Amino acid sequence: MSTLESPKKQKSLLLNWFDRRTGLNQLLSEALDEPIPGGARFAYVFGSALLFIFISQVITGVFLALYYVPSTDHAHTTVEYITKAVSAGSFLRSVHAYGSSAMVILLLLHVTQTFLYGSYKGRRELLWLSGCVLFVFVLCMAFTGYLLPWDQKAYFATAVGTNIAGEIPIIGGWMKSLMRGGADMGTLTLSRFFVAHVLGVPAAIFALIALHVYLFRKAGSAGPISEDPLHPVQRTEAFYPRQVIVDGIFALLIISVLAFMAHFNPFTLGPQANPADTHYLPRPEWYYIPIFQYLKYWPSSLSFIGVVVVPGIVGFAFASLPFLDRRMERRPWKRPLAVGTYVFVFLALFGLGYISYQNDHSDPGYVQQLAAQDKETAEFMQRPFQAEASGTAATVMAAAPVDSNLAQGKAIFEAQACGACHGDGGTGSAAGPKLTDVSARRTEDQLIAILKSPSPKMTAGGMTALDLPPDKLAALVTYVRSLK
Ligand code: HEC
Repeated sequence: MSTLESPKKQKSLLLNWFDRRTGLNQLLSEALDEPIPGGARFAYVFGSALLFIFISQVITGVFLALYYVPSTDHAHTTVEYITKAVSAGSFLRSVHAYGSSAMVILLLLHVTQTFLYGSYKGRRELLWLSGCVLFVFVLCMAFTGYLLPWDQKAYFATAVGTNIAGEIPIIGGWMKSLMRGGADMGTLTLSRFFVAHVLGVPAAIFALIALHVYLFRKAGSAGPISEDPLHPVQRTEAFYPRQVIVDGIFALLIISVLAFMAHFNPFTLGPQANPADTHYLPRPEWYYIPIFQYLKYWPSSLSFIGVVVVPGIVGFAFASLPFLDRRMERRPWKRPLAVGTYVFVFLALFGLGYISYQNDHSDPGYVQQLAAQDKETAEFMQRPFQAEASGTAATVMAAAPVDSNLAQGKAIFEAQACGACHGDGGTGSAAGPKLTDVSARRTEDQLIAILKSPSPKMTAGGMTALDLPPDKLAALVTYVRSLK
């Protein structure tokens, strides 16, 4: 019988068999026939764009992981190798690094669209909540990925980040050593961040995306702002083909922008982390800068409010939005409170970012140090790759213990937010005098004494008594006296 069948018929027989075994046709039509009230729109691209960029991150990440070794003596060398020696290595790394920024931007756009369109309304509480958890996990990916190159920028920004976690009362110290794998940052920190970055967090993100999409399908597309989110009445259009095409065009646009940036402005790598460098000014990735600036306003005595209470209230209010806002009204101009709050938060974040930028560009000390750091990075990028040459891992690690007192002191200075008033590196600010000349004026014992019980003038300026064990206090004083 089969000898009589034409090749075309045979092919459809094969496809039919495959469909009977898998149910693929029905699955596809269910996926593609999703009804969109009011029809396809550009405004709806951000969700699928996030999925697209996440997949792009997974693919580029797998390639990077082929070379990467998470240990203090190889991490930086392997990233340098990827950047300078592997063919298309720098390109892939740049697409991955810029991709993380793209992901944060798309996330903000997705939240903005959902918020302004009131698409969280109408039995979509769990959809919103799963989105909130995804938001946190994406930020975790950015945080854990930042350390992996183990260059100066990565090391010091993560030192600050983990110190901030250490500020949380009761569990802070435990969280900090859980993240670091001990008191200091080293190979255990790298392997923990690596495992979180390539296994733990992505697995959670995969599962949550599945849940998020499932809940989205269950509730149905909310449609335009004029649509009733519970009982849509507008004429619907299937997801395929027009929305698929719009989503596809946007995905192409994103990957083109990333490729363009990766090609013309490759992501840089700085010199290997040197924990004993006490002058390095850590600066986080741009999307963390407003938070970094915000934290500077909380002296250590109030850090509980700054690090736990305020973020807790904001996060809780954000997550409970669909429970708080029960009206079915979706038009933004009829929701002045919601939209006003949103605009306020965005302006505040921009404002904080701007102040941070101003601070960095108005203080000559910062300008000089930041320029020197950029120059070191540029020089390092110019240098050809040398396999584990002298001056890398082994020597730095051997040198570190000598200065670990200094490094510990610096960490305490940062954790206690002394820099909030005295400036990063003790260069002084409007709120506190510079400390770069303090060693000439005060002995070690005097410094320990005034830090334990500040003079009335210092108290008036906002300084609080430090309650630290003697060895920590001594390390802090060693650091303060080393400031030049
Ligand atoms: C809220 C702002 C603020 C914070 C935070 C702060 N200081 Fe001060 N500090 C001041 C002010 C203001 C003075 C100057 C008082 C005066 O005029 O004598 C001062 C004075 C000092 C002095 C004496 C300087 C001298 O020339 O004699 C030292 C040392 C010092 N601070 C160290 C620290 C350390 C270390 C920390 C972190 C644990 C810290 N400060 C945190 C505001 C602050």
